[in-house]
Amino acid sequence: MELLVNVFVVLHLLGMAAIIGSALFLSRGVVTPYLLWGARAQLLTGIALVGLVQANDEEVNNTKIAVKLVVAIAVVACAEIAGAAERKGKGSRPQLVTAAGALALLNVLVAVLWTTAS
Ligand code: HEM
Repeated sequence: MELLVNVFVVLHLLGMAAIIGSALFLSRGVVTPYLLWGARAQLLTGIALVGLVQANDEEVNNTKIAVKLVVAIAVVACAEIAGAAERKGKGSRPQLVTAAGALALLNVLVAVLWTTAS
């Protein structure tokens, strides 16, 4: 079970790298499949991690997870709205792309710096 948790942590970190790398460093202002799929993957791997960590008899900080969930949903929303606008020929939404990257960065800070138990 611990190996499975660690595999999902790796997937979770790759999703984070895809969002932040694409939105803030590589294709600034442009929606890429890395951004879209990274954002979707963060939600799925994050939710899976909560279950796996608990199944492994470890505690999760529910308040911290709730904050991360709201921020991750905002990341997906920004990426999907910008992606849909580009697909429909309604122009690019660079601010939304940057917001997706910045919110993902916020979630990294929450993940790493929020160290209290609850
Ligand atoms: C943009 C979205 C997200 C980003 C950038 C992100 C980032 C991270 C990072 C960097 C870590 C590793 C922290 C460490 O090991 O010290 C982590 C761990 C974790 N994340 Fe996320 N996260 C996101 C969304 C979510 C969501 C939506 C959930 C759950 C609903 C979640 C649940 C978790 C859990 C449970 C762990 C801990 C795994 C363990 O026990 O080692 N994350 N996240």
